[in-house]
Amino acid sequence: MRKKKLVVANWKMNPATLPEARVLFARATRAGSRLENVQTVICPPFPYLGVFAHRGTTRVRLGAQDVFWQNSARVTGEVSPEQLADLGVSHVIVGHSERRALGESDEIVAKKAVAVLKEGMRPILCIGEKERDEDGRYFETLKNQIKGSLAGIRRSDFRELVIAYEPLWAIGKSARDACQPRDIRETEIFMRKTLTDLYDSETAQAPAILYGGSVEGENTAAILSEGGVGGLLVGHKSLDAEEFSAMLKEANTVA
Ligand code: PGA
Repeated sequence: MRKKKLVVANWKMNPATLPEARVLFARATRAGSRLENVQTVICPPFPYLGVFAHRGTTRVRLGAQDVFWQNSARVTGEVSPEQLADLGVSHVIVGHSERRALGESDEIVAKKAVAVLKEGMRPILCIGEKERDEDGRYFETLKNQIKGSLAGIRRSDFRELVIAYEPLWAIGKSARDACQPRDIRETEIFMRKTLTDLYDSETAQAPAILYGGSVEGENTAAILSEGGVGGLLVGHKSLDAEEFSAMLKEANTVA
């Protein structure tokens, strides 16, 4: 059986109103439910999560964009892993570069990933370099992020782990600014090699690896086939219901 592609919609702080969110959710759900080779995950902002609670299906799941790393702690403004699991959330983005920019360290990301796994949900752990220097020092950055952000995750949980490669320089632009499929391929190989060195080859093959950063309808198929990744993390284009549906359909046809 061929492995389903995982396509994650990261709505970030959008849309501005609940009625708009309902429309977007309904359209993405309708598109995703028709496709047997894709697993869609929709990650709305926290205020809308309760509205879509338990609306996930096997093909279209509900995800969250962040989480706190403990269930019981006095921390104003945070959301616990337990609360997310209770709403039927199956995937949680951790360590997105926009959160790391607000001060989240590898250590915190690792704690969040472990907490998510403990509640039976799947972390979508983001890594990515700020820029690609010619000497390839960004490989070192990625290696350190992998080492630090995965610390404490049990080998037996690696099958539940999703790692999203999201180079910061490629986020929020258009298809021609995205990382090129051959470079994504190379990075994916590097990531598996790093995991092999840190753990073992079987563990290294276990996590799904996604790519994110200016994925649109136009580059979806190439990134999935030539890029060799198991799926996509989609930001701004997941807010365009028509384009997002087209991307899901493309993903469904990639072997
Ligand atoms: P983008 O964002 O698709 O808008 O580039 C991806 C992300 O930040 O997850």
